[in-house]
Amino acid sequence: MTKRIRTAVIGTGFMGRVHLEALRRTENVDIAAIAGRNAAVAEKLGSAFGVPHLAPEAVLHDASIDAVHICTPNAQHFPMAQEALLAGKHVLCEKPLATSVEEAQGLAALAAQKGLRNCVCHNLRYYPMVQQMRAMREAGDLGEILVAQGTYSQDWLLYDTDWNWRVDSKAGGPSRCMADIGSHWFDMVEHLTGLRVSSLCADLNTVHKTRKQPKGSVETFANKLLSADDVIETPIHTEDFGAVVFRLGDRARGSMTASQVSAGRKNGLRMEIYGTKAGVAWDQERPDELWIGHRNSANCVIVKDPSLLEPAARSFADLPGGHSEGYDDTFKQVFRRFYGSIADPGVTPEYPQFIDGLRQMVILGRELESHRMRSWVDVPAV
Ligand SMILES: NC(=O)c1ccc[n+]([C@@H]2O[C@H](COP(=O)([O-])OP(=O)(O)OC[C@H]3O[C@@H](n4cnc5c(N)ncnc54)[C@H](O)[C@@H]3O)[C@@H](O)[C@H]2O)c1
Repeated sequence: MTKRIRTAVIGTGFMGRVHLEALRRTENVDIAAIAGRNAAVAEKLGSAFGVPHLAPEAVLHDASIDAVHICTPNAQHFPMAQEALLAGKHVLCEKPLATSVEEAQGLAALAAQKGLRNCVCHNLRYYPMVQQMRAMREAGDLGEILVAQGTYSQDWLLYDTDWNWRVDSKAGGPSRCMADIGSHWFDMVEHLTGLRVSSLCADLNTVHKTRKQPKGSVETFANKLLSADDVIETPIHTEDFGAVVFRLGDRARGSMTASQVSAGRKNGLRMEIYGTKAGVAWDQERPDELWIGHRNSANCVIVKDPSLLEPAARSFADLPGGHSEGYDDTFKQVFRRFYGSIADPGVTPEYPQFIDGLRQMVILGRELESHRMRSWVDVPAV
């Protein structure tokens, strides 16, 4: 019988709940504890899921717990992941892995030294149609990649009355929009094309130089429910928007924007890859569809159906055609592979690891530097 793994989730907000629900659908895993900064919230969530709540420090030092999920604000990732690794636990950390290249390097090195499984949650790779794009590129259907373009656009921080810990660089790190959603886009473009961003030029914009900060704390996407009465006018040092042009490998070129102030766009990740033979385009808000474009024959839109996907993409779709698979399911796909690799130490990890989180921190660091210098910068390999 496969060994059952005991895990714990730290963080009880948007991601904490998403991780709990996806863990419930993951084979061979028991949720041993839920932990949060607010014990009453953790207790309520824990009792709804039938699991005990513990203080975060207690989770990190409970020898019976094999693995932890870190679903807290970005600045907590490094200290919590470091402590968990030192305590001998496998770690699945939300993105971005850290708030600096140095922190991410430290975590990647420590995980390697300890020989522990480590995952950074770039889950958006695992939509079935994203894997279909990757499998088509690997099979040579796209030809040589020439162009990558797209956007990750949202509107939930459009108004200066919108507030979340992400806007505060002490909790989120020096970058906001590019770290929060731009990192998903760059992880995806490198994963899809197999190419590496080799240089870039970035322009970032903080639309709201000050925001109205509520006096209490606000969980993600909950700000629309607040009244604007009880606020403090707070200076903002993190960007609302970023535009990046980049070189991908030697020959390919690309451009992308990331925005949290684009009215009407809720979670609009769009990825377009064009090669010498064909192009593909995918939109996260219509995840089961994939556009395939040709120069000399009709374009088409294919709809997710495991029996019609490339063999390499098939295991990322659990349901038959016509049964949609969405955002929640991408977590299940990551977790299944992460825990599979814990259960069987011989398995090669098939999920984004801390080294991939470090890669995103390097790209992010170069974006900030390019913006500061108002010039192109090279992006070193990791
Ligand atoms: N992979 C994805 O698609 C995705 C989506 C959203 C968020 N995220 C990432 O998940 C992380 C959490 O984001 P969120 O949207 O869930 O935020 P959130 O504000 O909804 O929840 C954060 C939780 O962390 C808790 N917390 C804060 N400080 C803590 C501490 N010191 N100890 C224990 N708990 C603490 C808060 O009480 C809250 O419950 C972030 O790093 C974010 O980038 C990833």
